[in-house]
Amino acid sequence: MKAVEIKNGIYWVGAIDWAVRDFHGYETPRGTTYNNYLIIDDEIALVDTVKHEFGDIMIKNIKSMVDPSKIRHIVINHIENDHSTSIDKIMALTPSATIYITEKGKKGYERFFDLSRWNVRVVKTGDTLCLGKKTLTFLETPMLHWPDSMMTYIKEDKVLISQDAFGQHIASAARFDDEFITCQSMSELEDAVVDYYANILMPFGQLIKNKIAEITKLGLEIEMIAPDHGIIWRNAPQKVLQMYLDMAGGRSDLSIAIIYDTMWHSTEHMALPLMQGIKDAGVECKVIKLRATPMSGAIKEFWKSRGCLIGTPTLNNIMFPSIANFLTHLRGLRPKNRIIGAFGSYGWGGGAVKEAYGEFKRMGLEVFEPGLQVLYRPSLDDETKCYEYGQAFAEKVKEYHKKFEYQNA
Ligand code: FEO
Repeated sequence: MKAVEIKNGIYWVGAIDWAVRDFHGYETPRGTTYNNYLIIDDEIALVDTVKHEFGDIMIKNIKSMVDPSKIRHIVINHIENDHSTSIDKIMALTPSATIYITEKGKKGYERFFDLSRWNVRVVKTGDTLCLGKKTLTFLETPMLHWPDSMMTYIKEDKVLISQDAFGQHIASAARFDDEFITCQSMSELEDAVVDYYANILMPFGQLIKNKIAEITKLGLEIEMIAPDHGIIWRNAPQKVLQMYLDMAGGRSDLSIAIIYDTMWHSTEHMALPLMQGIKDAGVECKVIKLRATPMSGAIKEFWKSRGCLIGTPTLNNIMFPSIANFLTHLRGLRPKNRIIGAFGSYGWGGGAVKEAYGEFKRMGLEVFEPGLQVLYRPSLDDETKCYEYGQAFAEKVKEYHKKFEYQNA
């Protein structure tokens, strides 16, 4: 795809990765993009680069607009490999350009590249770079997504180049939100925002709230948000800001995700009456078999729902491995504002459900106790118990959800 002008003199010069399905372990069924931006003014600046193997595409896009040797300034908003590892390709063409990076960014970047060859200027929040008619203002955003991260704001155009934040893993010929919802849909775009947030930014809700408050306090007017992945928000930047505020504040659907795995279908057998009990109590429910679902998809479904029931058979007195893997992954994402319980079948000693509750408590989640266990295979009587457990859990979730009513208004 060729360079695309996103606003007066600001060009997308990135690359579309149509084929990626495994993004450092995160399933990306829609692919992704590596967005970066060329700003043509009296002096020319490039904000971010792209993943190394897409560097030649970036160079081609830049060459369609300017001679790369004319680039004077290169901003590295984020040093993670998908955005910064084409720096050597661009610096080979404009070796006297200055790199702008945070202090933590510089320390990290030195582990990837020999920076002594290049001019590097460390910047912090509030520092500016005047290109002529346009001024870039830097805004540090540590841990959104890495300690080094920052955003770049272009005052005259009211454009916020936000690196990972507000992005989505979507490969599309559409560059803008209004284009995407015309050829796809807003619900698909929203789903991709939630998927990205849940799998990457879930641990940083409080930081997100603080950063959005800081942006508001600084009085930065935002007409466009240009992230480093996916669709650029030119029509509805306020929508994605509000989505982030809502998610960071604990907003979720009044629904329950049953996430389970099974050995000989007994735990699976329990999931169905549980689902029916939940449904009959008036709460939406989704049933997710873990081995049939990518980890990132299960994380997203967990995040979308106020409540979750984890179904795990006992294997050798502990949790089934896929469930243990899921809960370990979830713990790393530091989930909040969700209520959780567990169920499962066992053969002799049991242990999986107890171990699952140990994980829930380590995560600090609200728990629904006790869990529900069935010996070997659910009887008709056990099915009734599952149905009633589902109903009771749904009632508890409804009550817990009221705590968040102001976010859900
Ligand atoms: Fe898209 Fe944190 O890198």
